[in-house]
Amino acid sequence: MLRIDKRQKRNHCRSGNEDKIIRKGVSSFMASRVFHCLSTEQYDRKFLEEISALATTIRLISKSKAGADRLASLLSHKRAMLYFVQPSTRTFLSFQSACQILGMKTADVRDTSTSSEVKGESEADTVRTFSSYYDVIIMRHYKADFASYIAQVLNNSNRPVPVINGGSGKDQHPTQALLDVYTLMHSFQDKGGVDGKTIAFVGDLLRGRTVRSLASLLTRFTGVKQYFVAPRELQIGADILSYLDRHGVPYTLTEDFRSVLPVADAVYMTRLQDEWDEREGGEKKTINIQDYSITPENIGLLQPHAVIMHPLPRRQEISPEIDNDPRAVYWRQVRNGMWIRAALLAMIFGVAEEILRLGAAEGSSFLETGKEK
Ligand code: CP
Repeated sequence: MLRIDKRQKRNHCRSGNEDKIIRKGVSSFMASRVFHCLSTEQYDRKFLEEISALATTIRLISKSKAGADRLASLLSHKRAMLYFVQPSTRTFLSFQSACQILGMKTADVRDTSTSSEVKGESEADTVRTFSSYYDVIIMRHYKADFASYIAQVLNNSNRPVPVINGGSGKDQHPTQALLDVYTLMHSFQDKGGVDGKTIAFVGDLLRGRTVRSLASLLTRFTGVKQYFVAPRELQIGADILSYLDRHGVPYTLTEDFRSVLPVADAVYMTRLQDEWDEREGGEKKTINIQDYSITPENIGLLQPHAVIMHPLPRRQEISPEIDNDPRAVYWRQVRNGMWIRAALLAMIFGVAEEILRLGAAEGSSFLETGKEK
């Protein structure tokens, strides 16, 4: 009897919105078939809604020990290789945590000097070797399109395991865009959703793969207007603008950050990507990026309902004093990365519907809600 009461209390704690998300998720989920995750180009609106519902369900189920134990049993027979040969804190650790949530074992290569690549083994052979031992390869690489190339190599092999792009050169960071969209959907869930919002991208937009991926993915929403706020030398690439043109998305390019702050529903701040300077002659070091910062002095220009995002790591572009402002959601983004990546792995390995059923079951003992963690 006591057990039933506890369950009832837990379910009572679930917010109306969370309840709706989970039930909508389980009723409409058609188990989108996902294999490789290479580019945001792959994802439509329905997929974004499905993966967001799944990420929320995983987050809620994870709160109870019974739920966390159940999730950790789902993929305990799978192994993941984290092949990250370009520096990463969040993407690497959130994928590792996502694997742990679902019970997957992980191994990693983070430096080619510790693998047989140093003996002259090709990248293709290296990754084929990984596919002999692991069920998924999650990778970050400094070369654009590298994940797509590896997916093609594996597709032509006898062990075509899924490849997940955790950031490739300056071109794509699709799982960052998924977590960014999830954060936007969550931030605006009581404010009409993401449709019709104005999103401002700020900083080094030329070399920022997170901006390129998110700007493209936002075309899946209706009526979204985009601002690209950057010094002329670091303005967004023409290929992204052509993409927006093809999708009929209105946008504005400007160098004037102060004029955009009062009209934005979300500002997406980015740092100077000067790790690419050397290959480009170091000329970007002369640019004054200080003008593209949120500080106690200019935050008053931002609307009360707006949100401040950042893929991180940050430098000077968001003062630490801003961290406690209720509009700052970049630490929420970091945590959302773990939930959305767990959801992606669950979809790839075909356990998404099982998770949604666990979350939606009447009197589910796997759900414990309350303050977001
Ligand atoms: N946002 C992001 O990709 O962070 P890391 O480089 O730390 O993985």
